[in-house]
Amino acid sequence: MAIPTILVFGATGKIGGALLDALLPDHAAGRVKLVAAVRRPDAAPAFEARGIEARLIDLDLAETRGLEPLVGALRGVDRVFLLTGYDVKMIAQSKAAIDAARAAGASQIVHLGVHASPDTTIVHFAWHQVVEAYLDRSGVDATHLRPTSFMQNLPLLLQVGGGEPGVLRHYIGDAQTSWIDTGDIARVAAVVLREPKAHAGRAYGLGTEAASMPEIAALIAAVTGLPWRYEAREPAEFLRAMTALGADPVYMACVRNVFERTRNGSLKDAADTFDTVQRVTGRAPITLREYVEKNRAVFSYEGRPGDRRIETA
Ligand SMILES: NC(=O)c1ccc[n+]([C@@H]2O[C@H](COP(=O)([O-])OP(=O)(O)OC[C@H]3O[C@@H](n4cnc5c(N)ncnc54)[C@H](OP(=O)(O)O)[C@@H]3O)[C@@H](O)[C@H]2O)c1
Repeated sequence: MAIPTILVFGATGKIGGALLDALLPDHAAGRVKLVAAVRRPDAAPAFEARGIEARLIDLDLAETRGLEPLVGALRGVDRVFLLTGYDVKMIAQSKAAIDAARAAGASQIVHLGVHASPDTTIVHFAWHQVVEAYLDRSGVDATHLRPTSFMQNLPLLLQVGGGEPGVLRHYIGDAQTSWIDTGDIARVAAVVLREPKAHAGRAYGLGTEAASMPEIAALIAAVTGLPWRYEAREPAEFLRAMTALGADPVYMACVRNVFERTRNGSLKDAADTFDTVQRVTGRAPITLREYVEKNRAVFSYEGRPGDRRIETA
């Protein structure tokens, strides 16, 4: 039997990168062939140095160049991991990727979406659900991964929120929200990509632990022995800061609305957790405490927050 080829979108990002790490042993053993989709030529050598083919794909170019170049770039790919970034363009990007994968003859697409109730009115959650619905009618075997907040957002909060050392700012008041390590999402994705038929037509909620920001600040203080405290800020501040950093204002306005509604308690699914990681991978998920322990240096006031390497596994 031919070795199945797996193409990973978002290879230069958090989950796509962790997914390639998780599948590298399968690639090295000749059980699968990995391909990293990169949109910048200078991103390719790092993958090639690890023996992973890199293909240049910018999903935004489909609008001006048509679908054919994208179909060409996906030729020979059997399985696709589809992830897009924090941008309203995710809807068109996902449609182009699904259309091209189907045209190129792919048999499986694993989509990274978000956890939300089926009747959610949060706009970017709805975008992910629309992409899922489009994928479901594509005729290609589909699996939907639906994570909650990434633990890896915590160091980013230090960059976005500013504030003096030892102050963790967030925008959800004292409400609990659900968290997951991106490495755990990648490990679930790896299992699904290894065994497409076993997971076809399935949707997996991925959130492993619920905690409020005061609880997380107390946890960081306990792990580091430093006097961390939480400072609740206005969600509008988050939108201003992210937009100033160059993020898409349309997408980030949706995130602000999630924070508003988590804070006022009207987002009933915000703190949902699932046993998916244990069930699918056979391994216990990373806890928030383990995450903070692995990234102790990030929370230890040395250097600027975010300067350090963030361990996800
Ligand atoms: N953060 C959370 O708490 C959370 C929770 C639930 C769901 N999610 C979902 O997680 C997804 C983001 O995952 P992530 O954090 O792993 O992303 P990430 O680290 O920001 O990486 C995004 C990836 O997408 C690539 N990309 C962007 N635009 C592209 C284009 N036009 N064509 C091809 N590739 C493109 C980027 O490439 P470059 O390196 O070239 O930019 C990068 O590899 C989003 O769909 C979001 O809705 C996030």
